[in-house]
Amino acid sequence: MKTRVFSGMQPSGNLHIGNYLGALKNWVRIQSEYECIFCIVDLHAITLYQGPAELRAKIDEIAALYLAAGIDPKVCSIMVQSAVPEHAELAWMLTCVTPVGWLERMTQYKAKAARQESVGDGLLQYPVLMAADILLYQAGIVPVGEDQAQHVELTRDIAQRFNSLYGETFVVPGTSLPAVGARIMGLDDPAQKMSKSETAANHAVALLDPPDKIRKAIMRATTDSNPAVDYETAGPGVLNLLAIYQAFSGAPDAEMKARFTGLRYGELKKQVADMAIAHLEPFQERYRRIVSEPGYLAGVLRGGAERVAPLAAATVRMVKERMGLYV
Ligand code: TYM
Repeated sequence: MKTRVFSGMQPSGNLHIGNYLGALKNWVRIQSEYECIFCIVDLHAITLYQGPAELRAKIDEIAALYLAAGIDPKVCSIMVQSAVPEHAELAWMLTCVTPVGWLERMTQYKAKAARQESVGDGLLQYPVLMAADILLYQAGIVPVGEDQAQHVELTRDIAQRFNSLYGETFVVPGTSLPAVGARIMGLDDPAQKMSKSETAANHAVALLDPPDKIRKAIMRATTDSNPAVDYETAGPGVLNLLAIYQAFSGAPDAEMKARFTGLRYGELKKQVADMAIAHLEPFQERYRRIVSEPGYLAGVLRGGAERVAPLAAATVRMVKERMGLYV
C-alpha cells in the first residue's frame, strides 16, 4: 500500500510564491508516488475573522490554484476541510489529550496572539485541528514549508501521547521540506517570512499577480550594500532572490554559482523576475481556464470529499472505541 500524504492551505489572503515553492510545487512532484490528500483548510482560516462571502470565494480560488499548479484530481483527493465533519470531531478528542503548555509554546501562536487585542480560543487550538487533519487519514508524510514544521512535530507528540494512553491507534507522521524554498522571505524585509497576511506593497509575489506587478516587486526587493553577487558575503535579501530562482528553475548549486557569481544586483533581479513570470504566466492561463468551466471545481471538491469520507469515518470510529465513547 502507498504511504498516505496529507497537506493543506488556508483560504485566507492571496497565495504567494512562498506557498508555491515551499509546498505546492512539492505536492505536484510527489503526487503519483504517494496516495495524496490535499485539503483547503477553511476551519483553520476562521481562527481569525473572515468575511463570509470572501471566505467562500477563497475556497474555490485555492482549489483552482491547486489544479492550476498541476495537482491531478484523478490521482489525488482535493477536498475542503469543513465538508468532512470528522476533522472537527477528532480535533476535540485530541484536545483532551493535549497539554495547554504544548500549545502556548507554538511560535506561530505567539506571533499571531501578539497581534490580537483579544485572543480567540481557536487560535490556541489551531495546531490540534491540524493534528486532527493529519491523523484522521493516518498520513505518513506531511509536505509543508518550514514554518509548519513545528506543528507537524506537535502532531507527532499528540499521536504518541494518544497511542501510549489508549494503545497503538495513529501513524506518527514525518515532515517533508523542500531542499530549496522551504522558507521564502519577504521581498521588502528579508528578516520576515513571506506571509499572506502581510499587505505591504512589494512584500510578496502573489500567484495571480499580473507580470508587471511581479517584476516591480522583485526589482524593488531589498538587497545589501554589496554591488554584485558574492556567495560568501551575500545578505539575506540576496540569498532569498537566489533561492526563489533556484526553487523555480531546479538548477543545481554549481550551476547557480556559475550563473550568478559576480552578477550585479539589477541583473540578478531581472533574471529572477523573468524566471518567476515564465512560470506564473502559463499557471495563470490554466487558472483562468479552470474557473471558466462551469461546475468543474464543484465536481472535483465533491469527488474529493466522497473519496476521503470513509477513511475519516473509520478513524473516528476506532478512536471512539479506544476511548470508550459511544459508538
Ligand atoms: P498556510 O496556509 O499558512 O501555508 C500553506 C503552505 O505554504 C507554506 N508556506 C511557506 N513556504 C515557504 N516560504 C514561505 N514564506 C511560506 N509561507 C507559507 C506553509 O508552510 C504551508 O505548507 N496550518 C497550515 C495549514 C494546514 C496544514 C494542515 C498543513 C492545516 N492543516 C495539515 C499540513 C497538514 C497553514 O496555515 O499553512
